Order: sequence, then structure tokens, then C-alpha cells
Amino acid sequence: MKNILFVASEAVPFIKTGGLADVVGSLPKCFDKEQFDVRVILPKYLSMPWHFTERLEFLSYFYMDIGYRNKYVGVFKLVHDGITFYFIDNEAYFGGPKPYGDLKYDLEKFAYFSRAALSVLPVIGFKPDIVHCHDWQTALVPIYMKDSFRGGEFYRDMKSVLTIHNLKFQGVWDTKTIQEYTGLSDYYFTIDKMRVKDDGNMLKGGIAYADFVTTVSETYAEEIKTEFYGEGLDGLMRARSNNLCGIVNGIDYNEYNPETDYRIPFKYNARSFRKEKVKNKRDLQQQLGLEVNDNKFMIGLVSRLTDQKGLDLIACVMDEICSDDVQFVILGTGEEKYENMFRYYDWKYGNRVAACIYYSEDLSHKIYAACDAFLMPSLFEPCGLSQLMSLRYGTIPIVRETGGLKDTVQPYNEFESTGTGFSFTSYNAHEMLNTIRYAKYIYYDKRREWNKLVDRAMAADFSWNVSARKYENLYNWLLGW
Ligand code: ADP
Ligand code: GLC
Repeated sequence: MKNILFVASEAVPFIKTGGLADVVGSLPKCFDKEQFDVRVILPKYLSMPWHFTERLEFLSYFYMDIGYRNKYVGVFKLVHDGITFYFIDNEAYFGGPKPYGDLKYDLEKFAYFSRAALSVLPVIGFKPDIVHCHDWQTALVPIYMKDSFRGGEFYRDMKSVLTIHNLKFQGVWDTKTIQEYTGLSDYYFTIDKMRVKDDGNMLKGGIAYADFVTTVSETYAEEIKTEFYGEGLDGLMRARSNNLCGIVNGIDYNEYNPETDYRIPFKYNARSFRKEKVKNKRDLQQQLGLEVNDNKFMIGLVSRLTDQKGLDLIACVMDEICSDDVQFVILGTGEEKYENMFRYYDWKYGNRVAACIYYSEDLSHKIYAACDAFLMPSLFEPCGLSQLMSLRYGTIPIVRETGGLKDTVQPYNEFESTGTGFSFTSYNAHEMLNTIRYAKYIYYDKRREWNKLVDRAMAADFSWNVSARKYENLYNWLLGW
């Protein structure tokens, strides 16, 4: 049996701000249980739903040194869906209304969390063969493993894997501050380790020190070796290319299943979608005050509203999109300029545009089920899960060919009748508009072709089956077994 520990800042169903939570919550369930004991360690956020908090079992507590600070570390445990989750408790750090807030404070709190995650292991009696961490919040783990934890027999042979879900966020502040928060010596703050110009960079340190680095699609693994996508770390990504690979994300096929999803009013499957899916559209039109009409081409967008998601392309041609015969449903929160933009168009195009500027798991599922197409014109996209959810619900993705979008959406070819979605290459608003119009044309004028696209989309397999085996192979290879 090999012991694997996931260390992460979010995981469904406990706490979620984006796709990272979906991955950390669903992947551990998909490993071969005969071979791998995979457990997860998370912060114990006060903002976690109470029905989980009240079920946590208190295990122990101690005080931990980090830099000149001495901090309380509590440990709780919960077995959920067959997976053991541990929670690190310190309300001064995790007591806020959201997992992330002020970046400077986040740096201190995740330095604490990364160190605490390693410190609790002897206390809870779990000795991982591999510690698998995720994104900048836990990128200090591989460094700590090679630093203060290296001496003891308990930690000596542990290996580390770091998965980059988004290279844009790196955990950066001036060197002095990062040094103070992490308690790491000058040795680590050189240009080949944690330093970038005058700043300390947590993710960079993790990439330099992890035994293996993965990211969440093959294309993104290549893209980040280039200047455009490398976010200043492309040199390091190239340097580590022998120990870097892309493994595409999957989604939880039980959670996202149109046949059983309790969040959608009308269930359907690959055989019944022609009759049943449209009932979800009708329902959503009613709920959101859109014109109730089975035949309107309905486009959905569920997203964090940030520059990453290509929203400036949409801003540029929103009037053209809306003046066409379409309905557009938006669910998202994020940058104010985008929130207000969508509110404005909702006001301007009344019964054709619905902007829902909030977070709702329920509504997101309804949108995946109800819409005909799903728009995701990202500037960059390490993997993207929304397009996978759309495919699963027979909602045809319209995407820009970047990162995971390129790897998971096969472009429609009307001559060969192949493909699962529509895509465009350049980061150009009119290219996107043309692609939307092409999709609309297929929908209105070639409905049989459209339905075959839906058949193929729903038949595509983006469960974790294939990718979990790739992680297993990676773990086995790292352990030399
Ligand atoms: P990212 O992680 O970059 O935000 P992904 O496509 O990987 O993008 O994952 C986004 C996840 O967050 C999906 O599960 C999507 O349904 C969900 N999501 C994003 N915004 C909202 C929202 N406002 N309400 C509900 N779910 C949302
Ligand atoms: C990040 C990326 C997204 C990816 C998710 C899960 O948030 O932006 O593309 O799907 O992580 O890996």
C-alpha cells in the first residue's frame, strides 16, 4: 500500500472558489484503493458549512514554531465518501468569511498551513510516501520537506509532487516579508530558488524543489514553457521539463450526471435528451424572466469574472451577440467591471440576457443542463472544468483553442461530421463572434447535425478513469515500484 497525502487550500464539498476544489475533492476517490491510501489535508475554515463542521472529530493540538512565531495547530478529522480528510485549525488564520482575502495575510496563513500540514503527520500517525500539493498556497511544502523536516527518519524518504492549476497566482511579496512569514533562511532566496528580482516567490520555490511538477493539461504544460503563458517562470519551466508533465483533469461523473442530478428539474441521458433537455431550458427561461421559447439558441457562461476568462472579447462584441437571435445566461462573480458590464446588458436586453452576479451551485447545474451552447473564450486556461461539465450535459462548448480547452473540445467538422464543440484560435473578438454565429447557424439550420454533436459531446469520457491512472503511474515511477 502506498500512502499519498493531498495538501490543498480548497476541496468540494467543504469549500470551493474554483476548479481546484473540484479536482481535490473528486480525484482522491478515483485511485485504486487496493494500492493507494489517499488522504487530504485542508484548512479548517470557519466559513465551511456547519453540517460538516459539527461532524469533525478533534484529534489533537500542539504549538509550532514558524520563523519567530509560535502558533497553535489543532487537527480535526472527517471521513467523507470513503476518503479521510484532516483539517488544520487556527481561527486567527482561517476564521474569515472566505478562504482568501488580503493577499499579504494569505501569504502568512498559507506559509503556516504548509508547515502545519507536515508537522501534524507524526501526530496523526500517517506517513505519506508522496505528498501531493496544489498551487502556490501549498508550494512551500516541498521546500520545508527538504529543509527543516529533512533530518528526521519520518520524513527522509518522502517524495513531493506539485500540481500547478494556475501559474498566474504565485504568492509573491518582497523578500523580507516572505522570509519573515516562512522562516526560511537566506539560502532559499536566490534567483534559482524562491527569488524573482527583489521578491520572494512561493510557487517558484515549490517548482524548483518538488520531485515532480504536473499541470492540468498537456497543452498548458507546453504553453507555460513560453514567454506568453509563462508568467515570468517560463525559464524555470523549461529547466524542469524532464520532470514536468500535463495530466488533464476529469470531473466527478456522479456529481455531474444529467440522469441523476437532483439540482436539475428534468433528468435526461444520451438517449432522451432530444425530448427532455429542452424542458430544463423552458424552466430556466421562466426562472430568469427570459422569453419562454424552446427554439431560442441559449448560450450559457458560468465563470469567475476575471481577465483570464476572455471576457474583454465578449465586452467588445456583446451588442452584436445580443442583437442576434440568442439568449445569453451569465452566472459569475469577480472583477467589478465585468459584473457591471453584464448587469448593464441584462438591463439593456431585458428578456434576452440574464446576468446572475452571485455564486450558486444549483443555478450552475441548471445552466449546464438548460443551455444549447456554453461560451468559454479564455485568454489562457490551464484545464477548465466548465467545458467538461457542459459536454456531460450535452451543452456544446464554444471555446478558444488554448490549454485544456484545446485538449478536451474537438472542433466540429461539418464535412466529416466529427467533433464535440466549436473553437477559434486567435484572441480576437470577431473570430469569436464568427464562431458563435457559425454554431448558431448549425443549431437553427442543421438541427440533425446539431443533435449529432450533442450525441458525441455526451459520449465523450472526461471522468477521472484515464487521468487517475496517469497519476498512479507517476506515483509508482517516483517511488521506483
Ligand atoms: P477556474 O478554476 O479557473 O475558475 P474551472 O472551469 O476549472 O475554472 O472551474 C470552475 C468551477 O467553478 C466550475 O465547477 C464552475 O461550475 C464553478 N463556478 C464558477 N463560477 C461559479 C458561480 N458563480 N456559481 C457556481 N459555480 C461557479
Ligand atoms: C484553475 C484553472 C482551471 C483549472 C482548475 C482546476 O483554477 O484556472 O483552468 O481547470 O484550476 O485544475
